[in-house]
Amino acid sequence: MSNILARRASVAAARAVASPRLRLGLISPLASVARRSNSVFAKIPQGPPDAILGITEAFKADSFAEKINLGVGAYRDDAGKPYVLPSVKEAELRLIQQMLDKEYAGITGVPAFTKHAATLAYSPESKAIKEDRLMITQSISGTGALRIGGEFLAKWYPHGKTIYVPNPTWANHGAVFRDSGLEVQTYRYYDKSTISLDIDGLLEDLNTIPKKSMVLLHACAHNPTGVDPTPEQWKMIAEVMKKNELFPFFDMAYQGFASGDADKDAFALRYFVEQDFELVLAQSFAKNMGLYGERVGAFSLVTASPEEKKRVDSQVKITVRPLYSNPPVHGARIAAEILGDEKLNAQWLAEVKGMAERIISMRTLLRDNLEKLGSPRDWSHITSQIGMFCYSGLTPEQVDTLRTEHSVYLTRDGRISMAGVTSKNVTRLAESIYAVTK
Ligand code: LMR
Repeated sequence: MSNILARRASVAAARAVASPRLRLGLISPLASVARRSNSVFAKIPQGPPDAILGITEAFKADSFAEKINLGVGAYRDDAGKPYVLPSVKEAELRLIQQMLDKEYAGITGVPAFTKHAATLAYSPESKAIKEDRLMITQSISGTGALRIGGEFLAKWYPHGKTIYVPNPTWANHGAVFRDSGLEVQTYRYYDKSTISLDIDGLLEDLNTIPKKSMVLLHACAHNPTGVDPTPEQWKMIAEVMKKNELFPFFDMAYQGFASGDADKDAFALRYFVEQDFELVLAQSFAKNMGLYGERVGAFSLVTASPEEKKRVDSQVKITVRPLYSNPPVHGARIAAEILGDEKLNAQWLAEVKGMAERIISMRTLLRDNLEKLGSPRDWSHITSQIGMFCYSGLTPEQVDTLRTEHSVYLTRDGRISMAGVTSKNVTRLAESIYAVTK
């Protein structure tokens, strides 16, 4: 018997004490070792932790009382606690009072929800909606919407299977699209040296990639950089894309979070529709309604005619049905209740603005604290970037030191979820960042 097998056998023998079947002599320790090494999954390799959600796991395992989690993009109030929006609580109360049944939604979800999700994103005046050209389905939040889009386009997009995503982009985009059957390439987006949008590189890349390629665009609050094109730059992007017949795939996970104004944040999407693009959109209500675990989202497609919309709708249903059959109803009902009630809608918009403003004030505090400590670095990007994230410029090694020596957790690309910064932890955070960068 090899040494390894002998060691495994002795471990198995030790465990046998706890196993009634082994104690009764029904199976021998060696048989159980053999069975384990012959197991179907005996050769499965250990996968790496998720680049974002793995941070939460590591954070939870840290016993230090003053640990700070700036990994996942999930809003916290100033006490560092998850925040259930009062408008969501109110909508939920109303739903409970209605004692609704729990029947299946249709494949494309709760109609009251998708109707309002569409007008929130595109505006009630959108010609795509007025002309009955907008196909929309509920999805399992933004990730599910991206996946439906990926699957649908892999099957039906007639001009190739390559989607171009910005460099950098959300850590999960590549996996979602690749697993959908698309090929993923990047276009230039962010200039490290200027800590801003590389608009020239971006336009040049969109000019040189194969015509009619698919292009992923973050509608607002770019994740991870917090750097968005200006309205003028969006117009230039639209022009180049039009010229090269590129197909836009918008990902809008942060409507309302970038500027605090849901209409302003939808500028790019609405402008492209006005310019007569056919396009697709993935929408999430995780951040702007705080409905993270409820998994509320939508996938929509602007088609050329009501008749085409019908055919697209039939194929989206065929895509969704084998994936998860039909979506959960509760979160969608909450969102529908908020979006469909004028007063509650106004309250919700004020609450989104409140969340956006708290994040903006934390940006100022973090920058002030770093400057007060005498950090020689330029930290102006902390306040110039928008949305939930600050792309700090910290190196992977500095991020590792923050984690091991300061119990401060962020993704290794240096992205800080500003939503996890509070007036209480900002001083310690600044001191920790200062310590690893001086
Ligand atoms: C994030 O980027 O942190 C969020 O979108 C959460 C997630 O699922 O990655």
